[in-house]
Amino acid sequence: MKILVIGSGAREHALVRALLRSGGDSSIDEPGNEVIVAPGNAGIAQEVPVHPVDVADPEAIADLAEQLSVDLVVIGPELPLVLGAGDAVRARGIACFGPSAEAALLEGSKAFAKQVMAAAGVPTAMARVCTTIDEVEAALDAFGAPHVVKDDGLAAGKGVVVTDDREAAVAHARACLDREGEAALVIEEYLDGPEVSLFAITDGVTVVPLQPAQDFKRAGDGDTGPNTGGMGAYSPLPWAPAGLVDEIVTRVVQPTVDHMRAAGTPFIGLLYAGLALTSRGLRVVEFNARFGDPETQVVLARLHTPLAGVLYAAATGQLADAPPLVWRDEAAVVAVIAAEGYPGSVTTGDVITGLEEATDIADVQVLHAGTAAGSNGSIVASGGRVLSVVGIGAGIDAARAAAYAGVDRIGLRGSHHRRDIAAGVGETPDGLVGG
Ligand code: AMP
Ligand code: GLY
Repeated sequence: MKILVIGSGAREHALVRALLRSGGDSSIDEPGNEVIVAPGNAGIAQEVPVHPVDVADPEAIADLAEQLSVDLVVIGPELPLVLGAGDAVRARGIACFGPSAEAALLEGSKAFAKQVMAAAGVPTAMARVCTTIDEVEAALDAFGAPHVVKDDGLAAGKGVVVTDDREAAVAHARACLDREGEAALVIEEYLDGPEVSLFAITDGVTVVPLQPAQDFKRAGDGDTGPNTGGMGAYSPLPWAPAGLVDEIVTRVVQPTVDHMRAAGTPFIGLLYAGLALTSRGLRVVEFNARFGDPETQVVLARLHTPLAGVLYAAATGQLADAPPLVWRDEAAVVAVIAAEGYPGSVTTGDVITGLEEATDIADVQVLHAGTAAGSNGSIVASGGRVLSVVGIGAGIDAARAAAYAGVDRIGLRGSHHRRDIAAGVGETPDGLVGG
């Protein structure tokens, strides 16, 4: 199969490796997939062909898919999905793993996602959609502190402010409302409890959940600092209650997929449920319409089944016939190395050292995000999240040790990363090592 992957992050780098995988006794895949990425990054370009493309131009993506005569397009990021790249590719008669623009609104509009959850009976935080500061003030008072203020539209994980400071909550609300276009925001009740990311592959009818992961959203150790796109993740979750995945599928994913189909906007692609496991039960924090970054890096590192056949089955309405997924027993941990300034404006252009030394460690994968080719064969930082360093091990603690051994070999002036990804989660309550 010939596959075009759209995107340029470490998530896409992980997708490339999982899509290239073929064979194995659980395979539903033909051997020898060919993977092409647009636009990709310096690390992806070392492994597969890359093509330039404007990810904000759906017709350009469809043109490229047609020129390359691919069998399947896999769209990584949310922006092209929300802009209609899935529709543009399907209109050319090419299979596409990624929802239509209408279905991608589950991620593109938090207000829309709230409406769908209400209609489908999916548990989520109580919320109010506000379009004026008076409504904002009333909603903040109704829910009380900590305050949760969410920009309605796409914001790369940075549109949400969670704070005890009412002034800061109002200031963020003002900033959201002052933007051009249809300004709206969502104020909601604060959800306590650990967060879980669950990805489900769907053809609009059948749902195939992947293994759950946990993401570390804040920039600093101990969950301090601003929200980011994600600074690290791990999978599996040794502390998760038995039956968690089944419960999320039954109460959240299947009702949402069923609702979208009944509404005439079937969701075909990856439905990402971000959940809080609160003292009152699970609640959806957010939906995304695509694989999460960096959770994908750990989830796919643990997937034994070749990915290409499963995504093709989803894109072509044949998921019910796909054999069950097979998972490796190992655990995986990813730490993200971010450029100076991230999640604010970042410093780019500095040379990255130690990439080969890190890759040489057994059980370490170095996946590229914001990287570009520099002079004399060097690789330089070109974006906010620069690298994802994945460690694999018999349990979480071994995977974590591998990931940080990789991180410690890499140098990038001014860069930062968290030291506490998956710290302390490898121990189950009875003292056994998890994983
Ligand atoms: P979102 O973009 O909606 O996923 O929000 C980003 C992050 O903000 C989430 O992963 C949570 O860590 C935090 N967050 C969002 N909504 C809430 C909430 N209602 N209660 C507590 N934390 C939240
Ligand atoms: N890691 C969070 C996201 O992909 O949105």
